[in-house]
Amino acid sequence: MAPEATQHDLRILVVGSGGRENALGWALARSTGVGQVWLSPGNGGSGDLPGCRQLEIGEGDGPALQQCCRELAIDLVVIGPEVPLAAGLADQLRACGVAVFGPGADGAQLESSKRWAKTLMQEAGVPSAGFWPAANREEALALLEAQGRPLVVKADGLAAGKGVTVAETLEEARAAIEAIFAGRFGPGASLVLEERTHGPEVSVFALCDGERLLLLPAAQDHKRIGEGDTGPNTGGMGAYAPAPLLDAAAIEEVRQQVLEPTLRALQARGIDYRGVLYAGLMLTPQGLSVIEFNCRFGDPECETLMPLLGEELAQVLLACAEGRLDTAPPLSLRSGCSACVIAAAEGYPGTIRQGDPVEGVASPGDELQIFHAGTRRAPDGTCVSSGGRVLAVVAQAEDFDAAFARAYEGLAQVHFTGMTYRRDIGHQVRRR
Ligand code: AMP
Ligand code: GLY
Repeated sequence: MAPEATQHDLRILVVGSGGRENALGWALARSTGVGQVWLSPGNGGSGDLPGCRQLEIGEGDGPALQQCCRELAIDLVVIGPEVPLAAGLADQLRACGVAVFGPGADGAQLESSKRWAKTLMQEAGVPSAGFWPAANREEALALLEAQGRPLVVKADGLAAGKGVTVAETLEEARAAIEAIFAGRFGPGASLVLEERTHGPEVSVFALCDGERLLLLPAAQDHKRIGEGDTGPNTGGMGAYAPAPLLDAAAIEEVRQQVLEPTLRALQARGIDYRGVLYAGLMLTPQGLSVIEFNCRFGDPECETLMPLLGEELAQVLLACAEGRLDTAPPLSLRSGCSACVIAAAEGYPGTIRQGDPVEGVASPGDELQIFHAGTRRAPDGTCVSSGGRVLAVVAQAEDFDAAFARAYEGLAQVHFTGMTYRRDIGHQVRRR
């Protein structure tokens, strides 16, 4: 067969600074047809990833990123985090002619406004808990009293995982309402009250090209800081995939009941959604219920999933960005299981200890990858901790027992003062 000599090697820019973006950069650099990957701003490990270089432009600096795309002749930008997506970075970059994997500000409302997302779901008939939006404190308190039972209280904006209170009592729900209107969400704050639902949670990520969807294996996150799923919520302390909670038939239900109708509802609003559609689902006794939508990959679900995806990834993301997923090569999947454990800083998710040297991180291999997350390079070049979640340790094997054993062995190789982690990640799927 003749080589595909007409296509040049892709030049890809990944925007963001977390473990998610390092995993994306690593997976894209391994993909077929990729020449060079840049990560901006990246973190303490980005410049060491094979095939990757690091830039210093912040994720909020649209004009500098536009200029960088022109100067480096970037073919594809992959935007990792929700904040620049909600701020319209994808729109800005598309306006200068580059292909972008990530929705515009219109589509990102799925994540940036709970009220917008809930209304869209209601209109599209997507299963999700009943809800009551409120534009001010008095309205919210009156709605709560009228219901007469504790409801889930959700601030209506990006809150980095800190805008939701699952109230056990009316008093707790009232306090959460007061906090939203008094606190950092400001005088213009609004919120959504939601019926509480029960059941295990699982996440499904679909790659979208505006019209079509490609579903990835389901992943399960561990949001609480403490073992036994106790204590405050975090960004995620570990994950595994494929999550056995959803078998092939259940994934098909997610496609039909949740993802397809949501994409159609976006289209009906004139939104050309190209990027990740992330459905956070609860499996309730009554069936599927959408807890939240996000407009990006989950972190650490992304680190967990990337090693399972085939070398076609870059071509698939480019095809999504260009609205032609039907012409992309099929995305192959590695068999077996992937396990991820987060090494967090002391104090996380509260006030964290920072600036400690991070040691023992080897280059990502085929079965064990240690991705930098909250790290940076000190002026003398040493790598130090600089965020709540410092490293994501990911491993693959034929079953979950072996994958987690390998991940925890990897974790034992790394060190920083105050390193904190959960020993029970994957307790749902491990036998030992
Ligand atoms: P969110 O930021 O919307 O993902 O919510 C954070 C967490 O709050 C979720 O992962 C759930 O554990 C919980 N949660 C959100 N909505 C509900 C609900 N309607 N019923 C029960 N728990 C919920
Ligand atoms: N791990 C959950 C999230 O990224 O929202």
